[in-house]
Amino acid sequence: MEENRKRARGDEENEEEEVEVRPPLTRSHKLSKDPNKHHLLIVITGSVAVLKTPELIQKLYEKCGENRLAIKIVATENAVKFVNILKLDFDDFVYEDKDEWSMWRERGDPVLHIELRKWADSMLIAPLDANTMAKIATGICDNLATSLIRAWDLSKPAYFAPAMNTFMWENPLTIGHRNTLKTLLQFKEICPISKELMCGDSGQGAMADILSITSLISALVRDQLAVKTHCIS
Ligand SMILES: Cc1cc2nc3c(=O)[nH]c(=O)nc-3n(C[C@H](O)[C@H](O)[C@H](O)COP(=O)(O)O)c2cc1C
Repeated sequence: MEENRKRARGDEENEEEEVEVRPPLTRSHKLSKDPNKHHLLIVITGSVAVLKTPELIQKLYEKCGENRLAIKIVATENAVKFVNILKLDFDDFVYEDKDEWSMWRERGDPVLHIELRKWADSMLIAPLDANTMAKIATGICDNLATSLIRAWDLSKPAYFAPAMNTFMWENPLTIGHRNTLKTLLQFKEICPISKELMCGDSGQGAMADILSITSLISALVRDQLAVKTHCIS
């Protein structure tokens, strides 16, 4: 991916800041699968908890083994405002909205959110912010992440780890949206915890700790690979 990177200049308060950007993917981009690995799709959204993504990736590789786990990430536009996705210690792609349209030119070209759905064995939405949770619950699909989730194969495991301020968490809308994800879509919730939030408030709503998330996902990876191996032999 290194050669795909180019530098763009940002200018803020007369300071020259270098911002790395990756050009949009083209129609020749292929999503290859490795039969010996579990293919995990991580969706990241615009919660401050996205700052934990580097640790999440590192711990998942540690627990599952890099030779057994393939990770791809789908990021919303707001998620990308929190982390420099090109600096993630990660040798696959972070897909963004721009890629959805640059990969499609004419009939027969790949449609990225459908290709990602086919590629994945499971999906982890972490952190899931209030906005994207509401969109999923009401069927809105106006970006790559929500189009992928709307097209998701409901027979495959999907987990979500909400992360939001306590005021948002306690809003009755949140309760309704969580229930829709759990009961209608059968997504599994990784419950948030109570602690001092990054905004300084204290209470429920912080994303579950990385250890809880990675324990659940590594158990899933282990089970699914065991089934795969059993079926091949
Ligand atoms: C600094 C900052 C931190 C934020 N943290 C959260 C959060 O933890 N949870 C949340 O639901 N929204 C949070 N928001 C608001 C979301 O970023 C906003 O609703 C946005 O529209 C989400 O877009 P997305 O769902 O497409 O990623 C935060 C906003 C800012 C500016």
